[in-house]
Amino acid sequence: MSRVSTGPALGATWAAPANIALVKYWGSRNPDAGLPLSPSLSMTLRHCVATCTVRPRAAAGVQVFQRRRRGQRAGHGGGAEVAVEVTFPVAAGLASSAAIFAAVTCAAIDAFDLELHDDALADLARAGGSGSAARSVAGGFVEWRPGTGDETELEVIAPASHWEVRDVIAIADPCPKRVSSREGHRRAFSSPYFDRRLALLDERIARVRDAIRRRDIDALGAVAEEEAVDLHLIAMSSRPPIRYWRPATVAILEEVEAMRHDGVSAWSTLDAGPNVHVLCEPGAEPEVARRLAGVPGVQRIIRDRVGEGPVASARTLL
Ligand code: PMV
Repeated sequence: MSRVSTGPALGATWAAPANIALVKYWGSRNPDAGLPLSPSLSMTLRHCVATCTVRPRAAAGVQVFQRRRRGQRAGHGGGAEVAVEVTFPVAAGLASSAAIFAAVTCAAIDAFDLELHDDALADLARAGGSGSAARSVAGGFVEWRPGTGDETELEVIAPASHWEVRDVIAIADPCPKRVSSREGHRRAFSSPYFDRRLALLDERIARVRDAIRRRDIDALGAVAEEEAVDLHLIAMSSRPPIRYWRPATVAILEEVEAMRHDGVSAWSTLDAGPNVHVLCEPGAEPEVARRLAGVPGVQRIIRDRVGEGPVASARTLL
């Protein structure tokens, strides 16, 4: 986190991105605290961002106490004013909560003039209950591991400059989903396939890491597709079941397969929602966007790409 503070009087404003999971976090050892049971790995986005201004109240005093192994953590008696702005659909499976919690965390840390290293920043971001927010405090390709107790581990595998992967997002339904991810994390344990999924994850993480190192979109995309199907298989086989897909979701998935049949290397993945992220390299992006826009039921296309993580902003929302 590079710091550009405007000082406590004006507060601080940060923009933080959403991320798309290549290996998914699904099933939590504490859903209210966003503590994962298994490792996940994502690509930080560039254009889908949340912006947050935090302004400490005048009388506020910050209490800083030592945290075991980890340096500082902030507690605060006086409160702050907080404003958030999001420019893409919220609660629709596009990781808006990850972007929001990452932006709030970065702005608060800056506004209260604190120093945190990446692991601790990630832990603060996910503590509000959106685990994937932990991965949005960093840019590029990011692995997030369960760690121990209430401390998780973050690793930037490669910066955004390593490989310019594009993410063309086809919106099948922009409305907020009926079942939250938090509830999905809780119900995952009731799926008879959940243990099997957990057993597959180390190998998938290794395949994604290798694909990123070699910049191999076909290898990366194959794992991303397996992971998306598995996440939704767990959701649909949970008790009671959770169905995030819409008819347009299926049509988009079929179009992505048809593109590959026609020689376009495009690969689909979904988080907990009906909207589909299609991963490809820059040369394929115009064709992918054009074909997705023509799928019946697609309401909007968002063209995004790998991004560099949170940035301070000179704007203020307050
Ligand atoms: O971050 P949460 O707690 O809202 O969980 C979301 C998890 C998925 O987006 C479905 C997958 C992931 O790893 O981001």
